[in-house]
Amino acid sequence: MASILSINSSVRNQGSISRQVTTEFLNQWKAVHPGGTVVERDLAAKPVPHLTEQMMGAFFTPAEQRSPGQAETVKLSDALVAELFAADVIVIGAPMYNFSISSTLKAWIDHVARAGVTFKYTESGPVGLVTGKKVYVFTSRGGVYTEGPGKAMDFHETYLRGVLGFIGLTNITFIHTEGLAMGEDAAAKALTQTRTAIGELAAA
Ligand SMILES: Cc1cc2nc3c(=O)[nH]c(=O)nc-3n(C[C@H](O)[C@H](O)[C@H](O)COP(=O)(O)O)c2cc1C
Repeated sequence: MASILSINSSVRNQGSISRQVTTEFLNQWKAVHPGGTVVERDLAAKPVPHLTEQMMGAFFTPAEQRSPGQAETVKLSDALVAELFAADVIVIGAPMYNFSISSTLKAWIDHVARAGVTFKYTESGPVGLVTGKKVYVFTSRGGVYTEGPGKAMDFHETYLRGVLGFIGLTNITFIHTEGLAMGEDAAAKALTQTRTAIGELAAA
């Protein structure tokens, strides 16, 4: 049975567009895939901590050589990585904050991008190890960055494509709900476009 890992990173619960559209996608996906499983990771409700020197030390120590403290430290990262490997489909709700992703989503990335675990270095360069998965990223943005002058300031899709691709997640579809702060008509149009895309993607 297909399984989805759903990650949300908006700090808002009330009025969050990225949460709203990921929920709509999940509901439609569940209707098309009865019996499919959904694992939810809410990075605002349960933030992943920023990396510390102690965590880095634990990550880079081989499992069999870790102290009991290091073994404990690495548990959260291992659990997040296991969720990624277990999923067939990964859905990410990613609001744009200051032209990029939220710091909570970045903290999650810092816990799952691990040398020797989700990517490895080879003589021909780095190789991603989290392969064979489909990723849908639902962004929400006050302005417009897919065209026009804002395009040069999109460190949001470009960053996520880069870092997710680095760990092997190369099959990514971005669904942007943007222009949300550009008037009611623009916001309504953006949501309509996203809902049309959701209908098509959830059925695929
Ligand atoms: C801290 C913060 C920073 C933001 N930075 C940007 C930005 O750089 N560009 C932009 O277009 N919108 C920006 N916004 C607007 C959000 O992207 C927009 O409100 C979006 O809908 C937030 O996602 P959510 O509705 O899921 O909470 C920012 C909002 C917040 C709270």
